[in-house]
Amino acid sequence: MNVTPSNLSARPAKMADQLMLIDGKWRESVSGKSFTTHDPATNQTICQITEGDAADVDLAVAAARRAFDSGPWSRMSAAERGRLLYKLSDLIEKHQEELAALETLDNGKPLKDSLAADLPLTIKCYRYYAGYADKIVGRTIPVEGNYSCFTRHEPVGVVGQIIPWNFPLLMQAWKWGPALASGCTVVLKPAEQTPLSALRVARLAQEAGFPDGVVNVVPGFGPTAGAALTRHMDVDKIAFTGETTTGQLIMEAAARSNLKRVSLELGGKSPNIVFADADIDAAIDGAYFGLFFNQGQCCCAGSRLFVEEKIHDEFVQRLVERAKSQKLGDPFDLATTQGPQITREQQERVLGYIDAGRKEGATIHCGGGRPNLPGYYVEPTVFSGVRDDMRIAREEIFGPVMNILPFKTIDEVIERGNRSQFGLAAAVWTRDIRKANRMARSLRAGTVWINCYDVFDAAAPFGGYKMSGIGRELGEYALQLYTEVKTVYISED
Ligand code: NAI
Ligand code: MG
Repeated sequence: MNVTPSNLSARPAKMADQLMLIDGKWRESVSGKSFTTHDPATNQTICQITEGDAADVDLAVAAARRAFDSGPWSRMSAAERGRLLYKLSDLIEKHQEELAALETLDNGKPLKDSLAADLPLTIKCYRYYAGYADKIVGRTIPVEGNYSCFTRHEPVGVVGQIIPWNFPLLMQAWKWGPALASGCTVVLKPAEQTPLSALRVARLAQEAGFPDGVVNVVPGFGPTAGAALTRHMDVDKIAFTGETTTGQLIMEAAARSNLKRVSLELGGKSPNIVFADADIDAAIDGAYFGLFFNQGQCCCAGSRLFVEEKIHDEFVQRLVERAKSQKLGDPFDLATTQGPQITREQQERVLGYIDAGRKEGATIHCGGGRPNLPGYYVEPTVFSGVRDDMRIAREEIFGPVMNILPFKTIDEVIERGNRSQFGLAAAVWTRDIRKANRMARSLRAGTVWINCYDVFDAAAPFGGYKMSGIGRELGEYALQLYTEVKTVYISED
């Protein structure tokens, strides 16, 4: 994407207050309540959002059910569903600068990143699943006896989707793409911190021609609107991205209600492992990007940086230099490389972890505080001398805080790398193909990057081992989350 500093003027002017989309109509919440969404770079109010709760979720689920059972959606051909998804991806592409600005306004991420990462990946995701709509096929199975036997891969039904604030447009795409390609209908609850881009995309979906009730968006809070969706008796499946403890609540609600299907993409504490034989320049770039990208607010952040002892001191020094080169400021300024954290609460949480790291005896090389800026910024921070048992080495920090741990041998680093409740991602830097291969096999994580970090593609699955989640999003694998397999026997006698 060709960006110039004139994009500073991309900051949207005053935003109108926002309604919710149920059954093709934009409406106020049943309670009449609304909440505020803020610009995390200035702490200013952006606008009011109508606040959904259980009564609105009931209406949205009923609309999604009608659209699924008897609406035009249920009679539409798979190819036609694909055509609508292509139209949506084209509309998002057409409005990409507006959407990038909206994302940056609501989330605080640098506009440069919204334009270069969030938007292209979002567009590709919808396009990828558009192509899949008419390629979801069952099998014919040679059973014994006089029967023909085949499977149908049918949409699971009405799907509740709950997404977080760190990549709002992308998380919506990861969830809407496979759900709509499969023929499901959707009730989406965006994160209360970042509802704006989801509501804008919902308008574009209407413009693309999705029938009423196929996509519904109910903004609101987790324990109210979110929880109502998870315990609803007429929701067939729930897809969630967010904190591990929230994932546990969601699974419990699914178990206690109707055993709805659950897929979860949760937290991580991903090991990023640098061997002494690595291309050190590339490893420095990867370690820096793998942690500081998106203000450290990535589920797959490389937040345990294991560095082989022989190169440890040099590596720390160079990484500290890189961290110090971060430019904090207005996310609409294209020179800015780090924006604010999403909220004051998250800022405090990250600063709390920095405090814990200091108290537990890690060495702090730079950062550690809040800069003199109006928003919720945290200075890029680097700790070395981190031990496996420290809180900063065990818990997800979700901020610009790098933790460096030295290691000596490959056996040791495999064991320590895997010693975590999480298993979302891992990365390895080495020039030795045997070492790379052994690490790829041994690390218990859903994605292993070798000599790279944060590589994503709509075609390649993403998800977690252990407490990092259940199921795989993206790629063909995600279709399994949104389909039921029906076996049909036909007697030939
Ligand atoms: P969260 O898990 O509470 O929020 C994510 C989404 O879940 C939001 O839409 C929220 O409204 C909803 N939610 C919250 N409680 C719910 C409930 N009881 N039932 C249904 N939905 C519910 O995460 P939060 O509080 O925003 O962030 C806390 C921490 O979670 C972060 O510091 C980070 O460690 C982790 N996190 C991980 C993410 C990931 O990509 N894996 C994304 C966001 C947060
Ligand atoms: Mg929460």
